[in-house]
Amino acid sequence: MSIDTLDRSSPPRQWTHRHLLSLEALSAEEITLVLDTAAGFKEAARDARHKIPLLAGKTVANLFFENSTRTRTSFALAARRLGADTVDFSSSGSSLSKGETFIDTAKNIEAMGVDLVVVRHRTPGTPQLLAQNLGVSVVNAGDGPHEHPTQGLLDVLTIRDRLGRVAGLTVALVGDIQHSRTARSNLWALKRLGAHVILCGPATLVSKRWEELDVEVCHNLDEILPRCDVVNLLRIQFERQATAPFPSVREYAHLYAMNGERLARAKENILILAPGPINRGVEVTPDVADGPHSVILEQVTNGVAVRMAVLKLLLGGRS
Ligand code: NCD
Repeated sequence: MSIDTLDRSSPPRQWTHRHLLSLEALSAEEITLVLDTAAGFKEAARDARHKIPLLAGKTVANLFFENSTRTRTSFALAARRLGADTVDFSSSGSSLSKGETFIDTAKNIEAMGVDLVVVRHRTPGTPQLLAQNLGVSVVNAGDGPHEHPTQGLLDVLTIRDRLGRVAGLTVALVGDIQHSRTARSNLWALKRLGAHVILCGPATLVSKRWEELDVEVCHNLDEILPRCDVVNLLRIQFERQATAPFPSVREYAHLYAMNGERLARAKENILILAPGPINRGVEVTPDVADGPHSVILEQVTNGVAVRMAVLKLLLGGRS
């Protein structure tokens, strides 16, 4: 069976995982099952009038200990469009500030009859810790620089939708690879589905040691760009860095920003992705971010569909 066939067909009949903690742990078939399930939720993801009440009677709790716009909102919308109730927890204003431990807080939320917990935390491994301590399903919505599985899934769904396949494509992840959970989840999903992955950025943020994972590492965007079918532009995660990784943002932009001039030297149908938030003028210029090659907002819509698929598979709603 070719990798391309694997990418598209023969998904496993059943989803066997109780949690979604990483994409490193998923096979090509399991990733494909999520993508195919998400494809069926596209209408509902775009339009609240297409509610599919598969999860009526279930409750999803959003536990976000780091800032979020897209991920938090789309998990809430995904749950509601499947008929589930949602509850939102923010660390500020909670009893964590009164000395309650993280696990105790989570157990108390679980005790209120929650069926699934979505967690974002700056510490890698936090979702794993919750999965070990709670009796309900846990979804990782980003654990520090480690993984962001639903972002990886929505990125590959967007690529598959637009280009018809993932296998055989050359996909560059550009920017702060060192601190990007999006980069890691993309890397696993893309590799499982048979893409050629290039990691590109300053040497301070992209180590040659990544080559051990059978990916290409390059510090010169202009060198690799003509070969790329897809470029995923990753934000510089200043909040995760102790020291500045380059002398100034202007120098970074000069070498790595996707701008009109670079686009003109890329493949005619190149896709430009970015997980957001984008810093206009740093990793991408406005003309490119808002131009015809950009699928940045399509990614956001696909994010709702992917999260609906993940919730449905984990909570086992009727199909
Ligand atoms: C990403 C994240 O939080 O990891 N954003 C997102 O979830 N859409 C990427 C980022 O913050 O740069």
